[in-house]
Amino acid sequence: MAVLVTGGAGYIGSQTCVHLLEAGKEIVVVDNFSNSSPKSAKAVREITGKDFPLIECDIRDTEKLDEVFTQYDIEAVIHFAGLKAVGESVSKPLEYYDNNIGGTLKLIEVMKKHGVKCIVFSSSATVYGERHLAPFNEEMEAGGTTNPYGTTKLFIEQILKDIAAADSEWSVSLLRYFNPIGAHISGKIGEAPNGIPNNLMPYISQVAVGKREKLSVFGNDYDTPDGTGVRDYIHVADLADGHVVALDRALSVKGCEIFNLGTGKGVSVLQLVHAFIEATGVDVPYVITARRPGDIATSYADCSKAEKVLGWKAKRDIFDACRDTWRWQKNNPNGFDD
Ligand code: NAD
Ligand code: WQD
Repeated sequence: MAVLVTGGAGYIGSQTCVHLLEAGKEIVVVDNFSNSSPKSAKAVREITGKDFPLIECDIRDTEKLDEVFTQYDIEAVIHFAGLKAVGESVSKPLEYYDNNIGGTLKLIEVMKKHGVKCIVFSSSATVYGERHLAPFNEEMEAGGTTNPYGTTKLFIEQILKDIAAADSEWSVSLLRYFNPIGAHISGKIGEAPNGIPNNLMPYISQVAVGKREKLSVFGNDYDTPDGTGVRDYIHVADLADGHVVALDRALSVKGCEIFNLGTGKGVSVLQLVHAFIEATGVDVPYVITARRPGDIATSYADCSKAEKVLGWKAKRDIFDACRDTWRWQKNNPNGFDD
């Protein structure tokens, strides 16, 4: 029996593939490489010494997906595939609704056809919107998303909840990631954004490696200890561990469950910049600029449910994440193009 990993060539997917293989799972990866390279899978094989099928497939291509489910004995799906750039989703909402929601519907259709009723889904802290104060917990009502990307996560969560409510054989695990950072400790896989990074950590590491002149810190007048935005930065390896335990749970418990995956700690922009400088010894010049529209002051997780139910807790800190990001960045200044 194998686990199908959609979007498994991407940043979080490739790291999770390593942890799944190390946990002794069989995996099959599908990806359309719209935001990734097949070279990540090669690196996953190098790291683990294990082989697995990597199939170029868009999840909206039901015929091809159907072939995958026919060829392999799939027992569950971890569903990472999707578009994730917040700003781009505002200018291209239809692409986001089609790829993320349309793609998920097609995937579920094929899963159902093959009697596979277990899915772990990559959701996001963005579904908490702007209505609540941190720490966010799973009991808080989701909604009030501020961009089409976030809305796709909210809608997909609802679709998967409805499916589990309609058919008691389904297992659905909705994992709400906070801010994933870091890279595999080997420095062989990590985040490789196309163009100018939207997220803080890849921007910091590209400044450190000399690809960008300086970081713009978006606002220092928030109601936070140093005035800069506070987030819950979780090491991608901890996130990957979270998927392995969430998968095991979903394989044994029916119904829909939601888990925050974060550290439970808030870290400001300037704290992360200084942690990077301290952990790597490399300078990161920055300037304070205006706030970025749509940003909230503070976001961090209440992770007590994941700890209680899954026995999972983040083990790595931001210094580990900075060191690992830097190892990946300096060895591969151009990502998988190097
Ligand atoms: P990523 O872009 O590196 O990975 C997504 C992968 O999906 C890529 O390899 C891409 O090529 C593939 N893909 C996209 N559309 C596809 C399609 N239609 N068919 C097949 N493959 C397709 O992003 P990531 O950071 O690894 O994120 C993985 C998932 O986690 C995404 O769903 C994302 O929305 C979610 N998420 C990410 C973050 C974050 O900050 N990175 C936070 C919360 C949630
Ligand atoms: C973090 C902090 C910025 C860049 C986004 C998505 C969210 C989720 C994770 C997918 C904020 C500040 C950033 C820069 C800066 N993705 N910043 N200069 O906005 O918390 O979350 O990624 O689900 O949906 O919205 O993450 O890394 O963009 O920003 O000062 O160049 O860093 O203002 O305070 P964010 P981020």
